[in-house]
Amino acid sequence: MQLEKFENQDLINRLHKFKQAHVLQFWNELAPHQKGQLTKQLESFDFQLIESLTELASAQSPWEKIARAAEVPPAITLAQQSPVDPLYQQARAAGTEALAAGKVGMILVAGGQGTRLGFDHPKGMFPIGPVSNRTLYQMHFEQVLGRSRQFGIRIPLYVMTSPPTHDETTQFLTDHQFFGMDPADVKIFCQGVMPAVDKEGKLLLETKSRIFVSPDGHGGTLEALARSGCLEDAKTRGIEHLFYGQVDNPLIQICDPALVGYHLNSGSEMTSQVVRKTDWSQKVGNVVSINGKVQIIEYSDLPENYAKQTTPDGALKLWAGSIAVHLFKLDFLDRSLAQADSLPFHLANKKVPFLDISGKQVEPNEPNAIKFERFIFDLLPLAENAIVCEVKAEDGFCAVKNAAPANSETPQHVQNAISDLHSRWLVEIGAKLAPGITVEINPMFAADVESLKDKISAGTEITETTYFQ
Ligand code: UTP
Repeated sequence: MQLEKFENQDLINRLHKFKQAHVLQFWNELAPHQKGQLTKQLESFDFQLIESLTELASAQSPWEKIARAAEVPPAITLAQQSPVDPLYQQARAAGTEALAAGKVGMILVAGGQGTRLGFDHPKGMFPIGPVSNRTLYQMHFEQVLGRSRQFGIRIPLYVMTSPPTHDETTQFLTDHQFFGMDPADVKIFCQGVMPAVDKEGKLLLETKSRIFVSPDGHGGTLEALARSGCLEDAKTRGIEHLFYGQVDNPLIQICDPALVGYHLNSGSEMTSQVVRKTDWSQKVGNVVSINGKVQIIEYSDLPENYAKQTTPDGALKLWAGSIAVHLFKLDFLDRSLAQADSLPFHLANKKVPFLDISGKQVEPNEPNAIKFERFIFDLLPLAENAIVCEVKAEDGFCAVKNAAPANSETPQHVQNAISDLHSRWLVEIGAKLAPGITVEINPMFAADVESLKDKISAGTEITETTYFQ
């Protein structure tokens, strides 16, 4: 086919070399501006990288060998976190001091497309407060604000979006006046994208003039933080550590002083919060130590015989499950930037609608495409003195993932988890709750159980569903 007005010969050569010229199938039908858009998009792709990643899909899994060397990571377990333990007290004091000195900032990643939830807007806009109906965004913003007030400081919040979620998120947060945060303390930055390929390694056309791309994974955070100037902004504010959480988990104990303190006192460059796995097949990343370096093996990659290993007392050997809450030393992020490009890509088989060769829209019923994503946790092995810190799942982890009631991780589960957590706080300070009621505590009312003591006296009776705000 003779291509009309295709001026970039080098790009054509590359498309042929990497067997991707099919994407120009509809070129002659395109309007000039569409030709420009498609050319620009194609120029941004690294075809060599796409080819080598596609080859990985058929390569033999390296995980058997890696899993053989997997040991338990250095950990602060729950048993070590008793309030009377001197190391716990030192950690809490150190964390409190760092927070009060304004040395900790917060990154909230919200660039995912939430395909499983099937909500028509960015996931952060999903209403989740069990009594208040607050959105995920509002819950996170108010937690940051609650912590800021607790320590008399301003914690900056860096929110990562992606091209599909950026504009709507920015509009939503602006319309809601950043839920009370000073706009100067909120920075919204956008991550990059990666194309997907079909099983033969071919790029997929989303429309006649656009290649299908999707966000490049939460591993894109580091590069996007730097590119957007947010890393520099954090430095200018005197931030030394960045707390990282994901928008779909409203239970994150944002900037928990004890966690910050353990991270500081162990000289860790990257600390990951973990839960104790209740079952070998639990779908959480396995945090392990390999040759002295902490790393995560995804549940789908850890061979069953290694996942099932037990200690002499019958407990799971590889017990630490990642909940995607991390704490980074800023210097470490800076140093890792040079290596950000070498973080591995993970491959996932997904259903991606596309235009076939005749221009017909195809809606696949089965996964037809390979998506490539980088994961933030792959920074772990690069960190010095990385540790994990255990938290009870019911205190820190319940993410909104699925819509269907038959699944786990549905909005209903998460709402119950929020109400259960806040009920336990109230019971802990001596309040009396009537059975079956739902409760929710706004972090501006009380950021944690400690601050709740100052607000509600022991013996208070709570007889009906209540939102404390
Ligand atoms: P998930 O991998 O669970 O993806 O992201 P998701 O978008 O929420 O949902 P599905 O898989 O499409 O159903 C975990 C967290 O990482 C963020 C998401 O916004 C979520 O907070 N994330 C994911 C990004 O910020 N960027 C990405 O490219 C991927």
